[in-house]
Parts: sequence; C-alpha cells; structure tokens
Amino acid sequence: MIKSDGLDRDKIKTNLKNRWIGSSIIVYKSTSSTNDVAVEYARNPDNHGTVIFAEEQTAGRGRGGNKWLSKKGDSTLCSIVLSSEQINPEILCLSCAVAVAEAVGKGAKIKWPNDIILNSRKVAGILLETKKYKNHTAYILGIGINCHQKQNDFPKEMRKTATSIDIERDSLIDRNTLAKRLLSSIEHWLDIAKKNSGKVIEQWQKLSILLHKRITVIYKSKKFTGNCIGIDPEKGLIVQLETGSVRMFDAAHTTIAKN
Ligand code: BTN
Repeated sequence: MIKSDGLDRDKIKTNLKNRWIGSSIIVYKSTSSTNDVAVEYARNPDNHGTVIFAEEQTAGRGRGGNKWLSKKGDSTLCSIVLSSEQINPEILCLSCAVAVAEAVGKGAKIKWPNDIILNSRKVAGILLETKKYKNHTAYILGIGINCHQKQNDFPKEMRKTATSIDIERDSLIDRNTLAKRLLSSIEHWLDIAKKNSGKVIEQWQKLSILLHKRITVIYKSKKFTGNCIGIDPEKGLIVQLETGSVRMFDAAHTTIAKN
C-alpha cells in the first residue's frame, strides 16, 4: 500500500473560530525533538495553543529519559504549547491521555499514567514537560502515535509490547486526519477539565486497563503488589496492597511491572 499522508498544516488546521489548540501549526521535515522546538515558543504566553509537528525527530525523547524512536513519516509526532494554562499538571496529564485515546479510536485504552494501548500493546505515548519562565509557567505536551510501523520496525526488545494503528486496524491511517482529530480531542478535553475535572477522572477510569486489576508497581526500586482501586489526580495510583494497607504511587517515581 502506498502512503500519501505527508503532514500538511492546511489539512490539519480547522476553520473553527475560538480554537486555541492548533491556532498556529508548524510542520518540520526533521528536528531534534518537537518538545525542544515547543519550549522556544512557550517563552511567549501568546503562543498558547501552537502545535509543532515533525515527520522525523533525531533526538525524540520519552518518559524516564528513554529515547523515542520513529522512522521518517511513520508516526504522528507533535508538541503542544500550553503557555497560559490554568489546569494543574496532573489533570492536564489525565486529560491528554483521554484525548489521545479517543483520537486513536475504538478499543484504545490507557495504561497509567499515560501510555495508550491497543490490543494490549503500546500505540502512543505522552511526555508532559514543565518549563518555568520569569513571569509564567508553560507546559509542553509531547505526543507520539505509532501509525505506519510494521512489527519488525520496532527494536527487537519492543516487538512484543509495541504496535501501530496500521497493524491493529489492518489498513493505512491518514496522519493528517488523525492529527486533526487529535487536536480537536485535546481542545475538547482541556475544556472539560477546566469546567469539571471530575469528568476527566471518570473518563480516564473508564479507559484505564489497570483499574480493579492486580498489579505490581516498582516505586523507587522496590516492588509493591496489590489491587489497583483508583487514581488520585494529585497523588497518583491508589493500590490496596496484599498486606491490606492502601498506598498511593506518584507518576514521577513509579513504573508498572509485568505481573
Ligand atoms: C513515552 O515515553 O511514552 C512518551 C513518549 C513521547 C514521545 C513524543 S514524540 C513528540 C514529542 N517529542 C519528543 O521528543 N517526545 C514527544
């Protein structure tokens, strides 16, 4: 099948007025990391809602200092500048996970804190970075969605855990259509978050693959096993441990181990 979905800002842009997210769209053929570019735009609060896309990143990064690899044209890679956002970062993170899952479409789930899963494999990741400037704080929402990869395109150690939309849908996704849907979905969920963050948490819980499951978390190099009973937007994952006690695990220091 031939791909003809080179990223095109005119195809991504929506004509709707009163839109913040995607009010300005910049597409790079290649850059180090869209998050690096976005940081520069975030210096100016007027750039709120600017979105940077790239066909390729030479130094894409993921959570926990990991690299984020993708061949040119295979993914939807973007960073959204939120340089005058009032939502707290925890709710921002949850809203974004819900928005990306909905943009990916049917069957997409969330693995805490914000991996997006299709058929038990990771299809997308989100990296939220905070930047403090003299007079304002900005958030950079970096999103990578695997679109056209085939299983062998992933590094060997990831082949059993990573997937792409094309693999799961058995057809070619159009990245411009996906990007447009993604920006609308982000705008929609940020709007809801401002009005009623409880709705974000409710939707996040509906999409979560961990809720009510027995999980093992690695927290500051120690393992804890128990039943995931909820999510606290500020404190993180709520786990009823096998010992009977209830503990919270924050996203910055916790990873989920395979049970
Ligand atoms: C994760 O580890 O799951 C988060 C991955 C986030 C990757 C995206 S790709 C676009 C943006 N630019 C980056 O360098 N990283 C994020």
